[in-house]
Amino acid sequence: MNQFELPSGSRLLEKNFTYGVATASFQIEGSADTRLPCIWDTFCATPGKIADNSNGFVACEHVKRWKEDVELIESLGVDAYRLSISWPRVMHQDGTPNEEGLNFYIQLLDALNAKNIKPYVTLYHWDLPQYLEDEGGWLNRETAYRFQEYTKLVVKAFGDRVYSYATFNEPFCSAFLGYEVGIHAPGKIGKEYGRKAAHHILLAHGLGMQVLNSESPNTQNGIVLNFTPCYANSKADEAATAYADDYINQWYAKPIFDKAYPDIIDSMPEWQKPDIHEGDLAIIGQPIDFLGINFYTRLKYVADEQNIYRELPPQEPLTDIGWEIYPQAFTDLLVDLNKRYDLPPVFITENGAAMADKLENGRVNDIDRVNYYQAHFIALHNAIEQGVNVAGYFAWSLMDNFEWAEGYLKRFGIVYVDYPTQTRTIKESGLCYKQLISSRK
Ligand code: NOJ
Repeated sequence: MNQFELPSGSRLLEKNFTYGVATASFQIEGSADTRLPCIWDTFCATPGKIADNSNGFVACEHVKRWKEDVELIESLGVDAYRLSISWPRVMHQDGTPNEEGLNFYIQLLDALNAKNIKPYVTLYHWDLPQYLEDEGGWLNRETAYRFQEYTKLVVKAFGDRVYSYATFNEPFCSAFLGYEVGIHAPGKIGKEYGRKAAHHILLAHGLGMQVLNSESPNTQNGIVLNFTPCYANSKADEAATAYADDYINQWYAKPIFDKAYPDIIDSMPEWQKPDIHEGDLAIIGQPIDFLGINFYTRLKYVADEQNIYRELPPQEPLTDIGWEIYPQAFTDLLVDLNKRYDLPPVFITENGAAMADKLENGRVNDIDRVNYYQAHFIALHNAIEQGVNVAGYFAWSLMDNFEWAEGYLKRFGIVYVDYPTQTRTIKESGLCYKQLISSRK
């Protein structure tokens, strides 16, 4: 068997370094008939949006197979499981609790706790109830207040079953991909939408944090942001690249840590700017207990007279989803964020790779993914050596699942899912991960 190698004495080999696996509700649950419709149901039903024309009706049948999946998680020896709650499963349209939906999660949380697996719960991983989108979704400021009510409902129902809450997963994706370039649900396109949606999501984060801090003070409460580090193609492209970084990365972090948007906001036309009310940035910028960071790849940029910056196509080596494998960016990112902001403890809440896996004789020998993880563990180790306080790491993903606009064509799991039979098979990467976790001292 292969094995991950880390320098002896590495923080990653310490017993109290948390290891986990991550998933998200829409990507694995299925059983869409037992919840309200969400924006991803609508988006999947729109021709041409999902590469294989699939949807989340069945997915990994997790709602039906959750017991088996908890055993699978346990068999990997992880300390923690990061899952998300489907808002349209736990709350009726009139705001009252959906007891059946809540009960599903309560049983799941109880089973995890019984096995000493810490539940890291994300409240919003993109599945906005469709009835809220019908009222404008994240372009409507009211949605932030609906999120606050949803947070209250969840916190009250779950009691002391949760170890950590993240308000949002990757606001960049919901705001920019969903409301500016339209490749994610709800598929709105226009520069007049992206910043507005982002602001309402960040406001919702702040309103959610108020609830978490007052009504769930014993959980670790924070947010999960994704970063795609930006590299200039040449010296002449540095200013444009810094703009790109502010636009796609710092836009979502700076309000949280500095209670301000990046300076590029000043040069934006009014119609592009968010609608910021007095007091909003104080709500957004409340202290958080942890920052979750999702990292996959980097991008290179050149200056562009018309659009300020232009993204270059990713260079090899690429994963199966076409993202460059560039582990140095993982170290660079963490060191840079640590310099820019006064960071709380950091958790890597997602990292992993889509690879063209083959199930052969009951095995998946995903050496390419093993190599990806190996290189990223070293990159993470190097960042920690340079002073970044990283407390844990979650592999994305526990198992292959619905990869949004790519449907089921891209596999990110450390466990293989054979969709016709729903059989789960731990891949070589999963076995290596298990070995690493059990080797800690
Ligand atoms: C980020 C998202 O949080 C997750 O849902 C997605 O599957 C992975 N990245 C891979 O794209």
